[in-house]
Amino acid sequence: MPGAIINSGARVGSNVILNTAASVDHECTIGDGVHIGPGTRLSGLVTIGVATWIGTGSTIRESVHIGDDVFVGAGSLILKDIPDGVVAYGSPAKVIRGNPSVPTLEASLR
Ligand SMILES: CC(C)(COP(=O)(O)OP(=O)(O)OC[C@H]1O[C@@H](n2cnc3c(N)ncnc32)[C@H](O)[C@@H]1OP(=O)(O)O)[C@@H](O)C(=O)NCCC(=O)NCCS
Repeated sequence: MPGAIINSGARVGSNVILNTAASVDHECTIGDGVHIGPGTRLSGLVTIGVATWIGTGSTIRESVHIGDDVFVGAGSLILKDIPDGVVAYGSPAKVIRGNPSVPTLEASLR
Protein backbone atom coordinates (compact mmCIF):
# COMPACT_ATOMS: atom_id res chain seq x y z
CA MET A 1 0.00 0.00 0.00
CA PRO A 2 1.15 3.65 -0.50
CA GLY A 3 3.93 4.78 1.82
CA ALA A 4 4.69 1.37 3.30
CA ILE A 5 8.41 0.89 3.98
CA ILE A 6 10.42 -2.33 4.27
CA ASN A 7 13.95 -1.83 5.60
CA SER A 8 17.07 -3.84 4.82
CA GLY A 9 17.22 -7.50 5.72
CA ALA A 10 13.49 -7.81 6.47
CA ARG A 11 11.72 -10.96 5.22
CA VAL A 12 8.03 -10.80 4.33
CA GLY A 13 5.94 -13.94 3.62
CA SER A 14 3.28 -14.41 0.95
CA ASN A 15 -0.19 -12.84 1.00
CA VAL A 16 0.97 -10.17 3.45
CA ILE A 17 -0.71 -6.74 3.49
CA LEU A 18 1.43 -3.82 4.61
CA ASN A 19 -1.24 -1.15 4.83
CA THR A 20 -0.76 2.57 4.20
CA ALA A 21 2.41 4.00 5.77
CA ALA A 22 3.21 0.84 7.72
CA SER A 23 6.93 0.48 8.40
CA VAL A 24 8.94 -2.70 8.86
CA ASP A 25 12.44 -2.07 10.18
CA HIS A 26 15.66 -4.01 9.67
CA GLU A 27 15.73 -7.78 9.89
CA CYS A 28 12.07 -8.27 10.80
CA THR A 29 10.43 -11.56 9.77
CA ILE A 30 6.74 -11.58 8.86
CA GLY A 31 4.87 -14.84 8.22
CA ASP A 32 2.31 -15.65 5.52
CA GLY A 33 -1.14 -14.07 5.57
CA VAL A 34 -0.26 -11.29 8.02
CA HIS A 35 -1.99 -7.90 7.91
CA ILE A 36 -0.11 -4.87 9.25
CA GLY A 37 -2.53 -1.97 9.80
CA PRO A 38 -2.07 1.59 8.55
CA GLY A 39 0.70 3.54 10.24
CA THR A 40 1.90 0.62 12.34
CA ARG A 41 5.61 0.60 13.11
CA LEU A 42 7.72 -2.51 13.62
CA SER A 43 11.12 -1.86 15.21
CA GLY A 44 14.09 -3.96 14.11
CA LEU A 45 14.26 -7.74 14.59
CA VAL A 46 10.54 -8.14 15.28
CA THR A 47 9.11 -11.53 14.27
CA ILE A 48 5.44 -12.23 13.51
CA GLY A 49 3.96 -15.70 12.89
CA VAL A 50 1.28 -16.53 10.32
CA ALA A 51 -2.26 -15.15 9.87
CA THR A 52 -1.82 -12.43 12.49
CA TRP A 53 -3.48 -9.00 12.31
CA ILE A 54 -1.89 -5.90 13.79
CA GLY A 55 -4.37 -3.01 14.26
CA THR A 56 -3.99 0.51 12.96
CA GLY A 57 -1.31 2.73 14.49
CA SER A 58 0.41 0.17 16.70
CA THR A 59 4.08 0.24 17.70
CA ILE A 60 6.16 -2.89 18.32
CA ARG A 61 9.40 -2.82 20.29
CA GLU A 62 12.59 -4.32 18.87
CA SER A 63 13.08 -8.10 18.99
CA VAL A 64 9.51 -8.83 20.17
CA HIS A 65 7.85 -12.01 18.85
CA ILE A 66 4.12 -12.04 18.05
CA GLY A 67 2.69 -15.52 17.45
CA ASP A 68 0.33 -17.07 14.89
CA ASP A 69 -3.37 -16.14 14.66
CA VAL A 70 -3.04 -13.13 16.94
CA PHE A 71 -5.27 -10.03 16.76
CA VAL A 72 -3.61 -6.87 18.09
CA GLY A 73 -6.04 -4.00 18.76
CA ALA A 74 -5.61 -0.56 17.24
CA GLY A 75 -3.14 1.82 18.85
CA SER A 76 -1.32 -0.81 20.87
CA LEU A 77 2.22 -0.51 22.23
CA ILE A 78 3.69 -4.00 22.24
CA LEU A 79 6.67 -4.35 24.54
CA LYS A 80 6.65 -8.11 25.27
CA ASP A 81 6.15 -11.31 23.27
CA ILE A 82 2.54 -12.27 22.47
CA PRO A 83 1.65 -16.01 22.31
CA ASP A 84 -0.32 -17.73 19.52
CA GLY A 85 -4.09 -17.43 19.19
CA VAL A 86 -4.95 -14.44 21.37
CA VAL A 87 -6.44 -10.94 21.21
CA ALA A 88 -4.14 -8.35 22.80
CA TYR A 89 -4.34 -4.59 23.07
CA GLY A 90 -3.48 -1.53 25.11
CA SER A 91 -0.44 0.52 25.97
CA PRO A 92 1.46 -1.49 26.99
CA ALA A 93 -0.45 -4.32 25.30
CA LYS A 94 -1.82 -7.17 27.41
CA VAL A 95 -3.41 -10.46 26.38
CA ILE A 96 -7.18 -9.93 26.75
CA ARG A 97 -8.64 -13.24 25.62
CA GLY A 98 -8.29 -16.12 23.16
CA ASN A 99 -8.90 -15.29 19.53
CA PRO A 100 -12.33 -16.80 18.73
CA SER A 101 -11.46 -17.13 15.06
CA VAL A 102 -8.87 -19.78 15.95
CA PRO A 103 -10.33 -23.31 16.14
CA THR A 104 -9.51 -24.99 19.45
CA LEU A 105 -8.30 -28.60 19.63
CA GLU A 106 -11.53 -29.49 21.44
CA ALA A 107 -13.67 -27.98 18.67
CA SER A 108 -11.67 -29.65 15.93
CA LEU A 109 -12.25 -33.09 17.52
CA ARG A 110 -16.06 -32.68 17.57
C1 LIG B 1 -9.30 -5.13 19.70
C2 LIG B 1 -10.72 -5.01 19.14
C3 LIG B 1 -10.93 -6.12 18.10
C4 LIG B 1 -11.64 -5.23 20.32
O1 LIG B 1 -12.94 -5.19 19.86
P1 LIG B 1 -14.14 -5.63 20.86
O2 LIG B 1 -13.88 -6.99 21.41
O3 LIG B 1 -15.41 -5.40 20.11
O4 LIG B 1 -13.96 -4.66 22.09
P2 LIG B 1 -15.00 -3.55 22.60
O5 LIG B 1 -15.13 -2.47 21.57
O6 LIG B 1 -16.23 -4.27 23.06
O7 LIG B 1 -14.22 -2.94 23.85
C5 LIG B 1 -14.07 -3.67 25.07
C6 LIG B 1 -13.19 -2.86 25.98
O8 LIG B 1 -11.84 -2.89 25.48
C7 LIG B 1 -11.40 -1.55 25.19
N1 LIG B 1 -10.66 -1.60 23.92
C8 LIG B 1 -11.11 -2.11 22.74
N2 LIG B 1 -10.15 -1.99 21.79
C9 LIG B 1 -9.10 -1.41 22.39
C10 LIG B 1 -7.83 -1.02 21.93
N3 LIG B 1 -7.46 -1.21 20.66
N4 LIG B 1 -6.98 -0.44 22.81
C11 LIG B 1 -7.34 -0.23 24.09
N5 LIG B 1 -8.55 -0.58 24.60
C12 LIG B 1 -9.42 -1.15 23.76
C13 LIG B 1 -12.67 -0.71 25.07
O9 LIG B 1 -12.41 0.63 25.38
C14 LIG B 1 -13.57 -1.39 26.07
O10 LIG B 1 -13.21 -0.94 27.37
P3 LIG B 1 -14.34 -0.77 28.51
O11 LIG B 1 -14.90 -2.16 28.73
O12 LIG B 1 -13.56 -0.24 29.68
O13 LIG B 1 -15.35 0.17 27.95
C15 LIG B 1 -10.99 -3.65 18.44
O14 LIG B 1 -11.26 -2.63 19.38
C16 LIG B 1 -9.80 -3.14 17.61
O15 LIG B 1 -8.86 -2.50 18.09
N6 LIG B 1 -9.86 -3.46 16.29
C17 LIG B 1 -8.78 -3.10 15.39
C18 LIG B 1 -9.29 -2.21 14.26
C19 LIG B 1 -8.21 -2.02 13.22
O16 LIG B 1 -7.14 -1.54 13.52
N7 LIG B 1 -8.49 -2.47 12.00
C20 LIG B 1 -7.53 -2.41 10.92
C21 LIG B 1 -8.12 -1.62 9.77
S1 LIG B 1 -7.11 -1.74 8.34
